[in-house]
Amino acid sequence: MRKLVYLFAGLMTVSQYVVAENISLSTPNTTLVLSAEKGKNLKYIYYGEALTSADIESIGYAGMYNHDAYPVYGMVGAGETALAVKHSDGNMSLDMYITDVRKEKNDGKETVVIEMKDRVYPFYVNVNYEAYDDVDVIETWTEIKHNEKKPVVLNQFSSAYLPLRRGEVWMSHLYGAWANEGRLAQEPLNPGLKMIKNKDGVRNSHTAHAEVMFSLDGKPQENNGRVIGAALCYSGNYKLRVDTDESDYHHFFAGINEENSAYTLNKGEKFETPRLALSYSNEGLSGCSRNFHRWGRNYKLANGKVERKILLNSWEGVYFDINERGMDQMMCDISSMGGELFVMDDGWFGDKYPRLSDNSSLGDWVVDRNKLPNGIESLVNDAKKHNIKFGIWIEPEMANINSELFEKNPDWIVKAAGREPVLGRGGTQVVLDLANPKVQDYIYKIVDDMMCQNPDIDYIKWDANMSIMNHGSNYITKDNQSHLYIEFHRGFEKVCQRIRDKYPTLTIQACASGGGRANYGLLPYFDEFWVSDNTDALQRVYMQWGTSYFFPAIAMASHISATPNHQTFRTIPLKYRIDVAMSGRLGMEIQPKDMTEEEKTLCRNAISEYKDIRHLVQFGDIYRLISPYDNLGVASMMYITPEKEKAVFYWWKTEHFCNQHLPRVKMEGLDPSKRYVVRELNRIDNEPLSFEGRSFSGSYLMANGLDIPYEHNVDYHKKNDYASRILYLEEVNSNN
Ligand code: DGJ
Repeated sequence: MRKLVYLFAGLMTVSQYVVAENISLSTPNTTLVLSAEKGKNLKYIYYGEALTSADIESIGYAGMYNHDAYPVYGMVGAGETALAVKHSDGNMSLDMYITDVRKEKNDGKETVVIEMKDRVYPFYVNVNYEAYDDVDVIETWTEIKHNEKKPVVLNQFSSAYLPLRRGEVWMSHLYGAWANEGRLAQEPLNPGLKMIKNKDGVRNSHTAHAEVMFSLDGKPQENNGRVIGAALCYSGNYKLRVDTDESDYHHFFAGINEENSAYTLNKGEKFETPRLALSYSNEGLSGCSRNFHRWGRNYKLANGKVERKILLNSWEGVYFDINERGMDQMMCDISSMGGELFVMDDGWFGDKYPRLSDNSSLGDWVVDRNKLPNGIESLVNDAKKHNIKFGIWIEPEMANINSELFEKNPDWIVKAAGREPVLGRGGTQVVLDLANPKVQDYIYKIVDDMMCQNPDIDYIKWDANMSIMNHGSNYITKDNQSHLYIEFHRGFEKVCQRIRDKYPTLTIQACASGGGRANYGLLPYFDEFWVSDNTDALQRVYMQWGTSYFFPAIAMASHISATPNHQTFRTIPLKYRIDVAMSGRLGMEIQPKDMTEEEKTLCRNAISEYKDIRHLVQFGDIYRLISPYDNLGVASMMYITPEKEKAVFYWWKTEHFCNQHLPRVKMEGLDPSKRYVVRELNRIDNEPLSFEGRSFSGSYLMANGLDIPYEHNVDYHKKNDYASRILYLEEVNSNN
């Protein structure tokens, strides 16, 4: 039963493991296998397609498996590691062996805990795996503790490690910048170290994301090939590493970014790393996305099984110019278009320092009586009168130096001792020190007071518009200043948990300057996130495409905004703006009083049609068809119900040239044996499409697709360079 000899780079290392001690975890279509023999190292053996028990038994003979499942530093030479510490006596090495393996099954999950101890020191690591019975996701994380006489310093503390067999492995990941978030990058894994990281301190997904997908069979394909995906469930600074060294494997590590964050662990204290969610699919990138979406909706996202309301947000409509009449008019307009919720954005608060622009008042969450003499209560009642719900904007983790809060509590801000505060937005913004329990209580109270005074508030837009720019906490001891980033997010999570315990059904949006807080560490407390401050529909096609790799449409706030667009100044026709927003959680971000009656009618119609497909968009399975990043002149995707009796197909032209040859888009994911009637939504053309009301088999649509005209058939003066289509497919049955 014993194996084997492992050779590399001229060195010979003898390694052994016992195949009989293999343990496995399974989800409906995947299996993870480890070798976990007491007294030995924990070894990774396999993660991928579901295996039979016979294969699980013999898999140990199928390859050269010599990878510690959680590599530690100090006794193995030069490779990258997951955990590196300095013991209380200065020793820098770890040598962990298995002391126990526990397997449990409950609540639709199977959990394996592998307990390990250092061979010399009273230093312990538990490696945990949790597999879901109904979705193809396995979460893994570790718990670290010790009983050494003095504290141990954790210098590196990844959540997990995964070896990936070399071949032609490609990585898909998201990058960007403010107003250009969620851009898709796809690249082959080449020798060297590829690192994706965040150091913002507050928001972690503007410039890169803590999620990746690995296509194992060459260039990434949306609907074919084996893919392993990984999403780090953490709201703070992270680091993902892929080391392609001299061996046959790529070595993937993910966890908290340890830079400037060395953690001093006291005797008996437990350090728990964030979870890394792994998923595998043999149905390409879209298949892996479907797994993450299902898991996200069912287990991670707050209220992930509840349909989201269609809303109007006031920001791009009026910016800071809040007043009662204006709010009433916006509520009246969104209600008349069929919307269900109005959200009053920034600018409603401040007494001594009224919020007239972005340079004051954060922290003073009292209504500005000059703007709103009758307070929030009257707005909530006004919303009732219009038969819609009311929501409100706050940015509770922040203050301005010209605020009453800062005047009273100057020591509550994140700031290096003995230095002037570094100021952010508006030249006056500062971040509150969430490591401080008093600050945590204060933030909880902002929400609690508001909700106690106005229990009918239905929605909170929670913003966060600044990074940690100078390192220092007045609360954390001098010796432990390197804990700041970690303690900030622990504090943040505690506040969120308290809010959720009391207000489980309140809808809360993670705004974070748009796109700054799209991560699964935070989504258990938030219902959705604002995909980007950039509402330009064409650029949104690209950003929403990337974001959809890991996050379901129900979480992606997508709004119809004015033209020229306020970020890109591009003029895009309303039909296209609607068709893009309708692929996510639909909303509006516009001053309705500036819209023509014809535009309002188009929106009213779109809102009504969205209500028909809302369930399908928000809970359906995604199939991405043609990527905007492939520069074929068109992007296309669809959502399909799990029963495959309904589907919605999106087609957006991304460029316009005369006599251009756009590909005919083949559909995916339909039932080949079903017939589907096709109906166009948001129709603006003078004539219906040739296939309007016709039915086609799923097999025909998947083999051939439908020919979509490149332009809209509209009167000459309405012609423009954009075109988009939404097709609704419904199974033919006795009712149609
Ligand atoms: C940034 C957000 O992303 C915007 O939507 C808006 O809420 C502003 N902040 C308000 O200051």
